[in-house]
Amino acid sequence: MRLHPSFPRPSAAMADKARSLLERALGPSKVLTSPEACLAYAGDESDQEPVAPDAVVLASSAEDIAKAMRAASEAEVPIVPRAGGSGKSGGCVPVAGGVVIATLGMNGILEISREEQVAVVQPGVILADLHAAVEAEGMFFPPDPNSLKMCAIGGNIAENAAGPRAFKYGSTRDYVLGLEVVLIDGTRLRTGKRTVKGVTGYDVTSLLVGSEGTLAVTTEATLRLIPNPGAVMTLMALFPDVYASGRAVSAMIAAGVRPRCIELLDEGTLDAVRARGVAVDARARAMLILEVDGAPADCEAQAERLGEVCAVDAIDILVAQDAAQRDRLWEARRQLSPATRAMARYKLSEDVVVPRDRIPALLEETRAIEAETGIRMITYGHAGDGNLHVNLLWNDAAMAPLVERSLHRLFRAVVSMRGTLTGEHGVGTSKADFLGLEQQPELIELQKQIKRVFDPKGLLNPHKIFPRRQLEAAPSVVDGRAVALHGAC
Ligand code: MLT
Ligand code: ZN
Repeated sequence: MRLHPSFPRPSAAMADKARSLLERALGPSKVLTSPEACLAYAGDESDQEPVAPDAVVLASSAEDIAKAMRAASEAEVPIVPRAGGSGKSGGCVPVAGGVVIATLGMNGILEISREEQVAVVQPGVILADLHAAVEAEGMFFPPDPNSLKMCAIGGNIAENAAGPRAFKYGSTRDYVLGLEVVLIDGTRLRTGKRTVKGVTGYDVTSLLVGSEGTLAVTTEATLRLIPNPGAVMTLMALFPDVYASGRAVSAMIAAGVRPRCIELLDEGTLDAVRARGVAVDARARAMLILEVDGAPADCEAQAERLGEVCAVDAIDILVAQDAAQRDRLWEARRQLSPATRAMARYKLSEDVVVPRDRIPALLEETRAIEAETGIRMITYGHAGDGNLHVNLLWNDAAMAPLVERSLHRLFRAVVSMRGTLTGEHGVGTSKADFLGLEQQPELIELQKQIKRVFDPKGLLNPHKIFPRRQLEAAPSVVDGRAVALHGAC
């Protein structure tokens, strides 16, 4: 477990005031206050220690959310929005207690329009349900985080979630046309548009997408849909080592081939796939899962081109023969996060992004860090857009300082390659202290000013994204981290 700072909670009197204001505004049936009930809203899927809130609001409408925001503002306690709770960076963890607004009950798909190719949804819609509903109408909503059976669209919007198909189709932000949100004082606001085109005013919608629940709470989203791309063909390219697979990715980008997914799995993760019942040639030490879509003839042509590029280094290239084989492969891929968690007592999953031609360099860096610190690192992810999940695995809690050292070195390397700390999971609490490695102090300050405009008292999802003061001021367990945090990258 990494050690995250703890933050002061509301006093007992403030928490009591918040609970009674909430109960008065919403009625007791929508407000959970017992410690046991609150515990279910304490954590997410990251390494951030769970922290129980003082109360939970089970929102069933935008008006409920507005009432909750007003009550929390009046009591001056933190308020933290939560959708599916599947986040990977601590985004919905109420680290300073206060009130959690649970939006999972707001799970209506309000409209799917073929004529306009839009869907209007509430924040609690589970992504897989949205996919099914949209596909039943012959359309397509591309964002596909691997937690799609449990994550909800409100969280996807908060984190600007992506997934394997982002390589061809982009991330959640590319599909959000407009939002209805509630501000900290309870004001309900519509941003954006329903039309495909439109440049009126600042692009507040884009600012809100990916703001990690720190600026406003989403109550409704208007999403852009696209026509269903048609046939799909899935290939597995097997390589003798991970560097060869990384080189193949660069070659594909350079050749201009555009599959919808290019997923890389290194040796450690391949073992996890094998353990999930997918037979993979024992000689393979790395794999690329490649998927193309379009008209059948188009798929054939793209697959052939991919095969040619991979053939330089690949041991074998296989095409999934039917939907069952394809589903088995994707199920194994989508389960990698829990499967790798089972490989050690402690796991940390990063989601760094590097320019695609630096993927082999990043993989070499992980080997070097592993050799220096003894913290095992296995890597898989969305290599097509340079977004790799470097997973740190360890068994002994006493190794936490070495984990910090590994992370620090990894992030420095990524930034020096002109990469970025997070491609889809968000900064949250997990990477907050490393933000200064990538962003200059003036940019961080500008974002803090934006936060203050939306939330002058700092009540909405506090202590996320921005470096926490305690760690900035204190010397770090990692040699040199304090220097690096102030811009020595
Ligand atoms: C994934 O791609 O599987 C998810 O982003 C989760 C992760 O492994 O970190
Ligand atoms: Zn991912």
